[in-house]
Amino acid sequence: MSKPTPLIAGNWKMNGLAASLDEARAIAGGLGATPARVAICPPAILIHRMAQALSGTAVLVGGQDHHWDDSGAFTGDVSAEMLVDAGAALAILGHSERRTGYRETDAVVAAKVQAALRAGLEPIVCVGETLEQRKAGDALAVVTGQVRGSLPAELAGRPFSVAYEPVWAIGTGLTPTTPEIEEVHRAIRETLVELFGDFGRTPPILYGGSVKPGNAAEILHADEVGGALVGGASLKAEDFLGIIRAL
Ligand code: 13P
Repeated sequence: MSKPTPLIAGNWKMNGLAASLDEARAIAGGLGATPARVAICPPAILIHRMAQALSGTAVLVGGQDHHWDDSGAFTGDVSAEMLVDAGAALAILGHSERRTGYRETDAVVAAKVQAALRAGLEPIVCVGETLEQRKAGDALAVVTGQVRGSLPAELAGRPFSVAYEPVWAIGTGLTPTTPEIEEVHRAIRETLVELFGDFGRTPPILYGGSVKPGNAAEILHADEVGGALVGGASLKAEDFLGIIRAL
């Protein structure tokens, strides 16, 4: 079976205003030939304008979260269909900042994944252990448990990816060693094959957490690493392009 097509996605989190669209244009303009699919996930309010700014380029636009229901009385929320309507092709779901800050459980994440699939969005499902869990030797159990709990059976045959983001590596400048990344990614792959059979070999498994131009080559070439989910370094075209070129 051929290797999954790599995906490199930028998670802008709660950063970016209309003026930041220039940065997105610079990313698309500087992309050149790459084996990766590239996506930027800006705040929801920017998706429509970013999709227009990037139309005709190879860069995809994604959301960072959406509700598990399709519509209704959910003040302040956006639905998966609204993201699609605005021009998004993907959605990050289950990011640790949502799991921790908004108490999203695996069941909530799985319901959001189902909503993404109903709307035709490609989910990027995030998993990752805390530093306490790693120190206790529980990293693999936590991560594979999140994979089992957050990925509904409806994903079979649909495009999606899993992003391994150790909570302690996000925004800290710390990264696991390459063997540590490979150990977790292999465990995720085994779990995907357990859940989905041979199809479980096809989704890329992204690494996220302090990916920078300087460490991208080593991380992106590690076994079972099929791309990256990039936070801070995706906000600057030069840094994001440096990561993409490291593939
Ligand atoms: P940083 O790249 O800023 O560490 O963020 C990683 C992340 O959370 C991407 O979703």
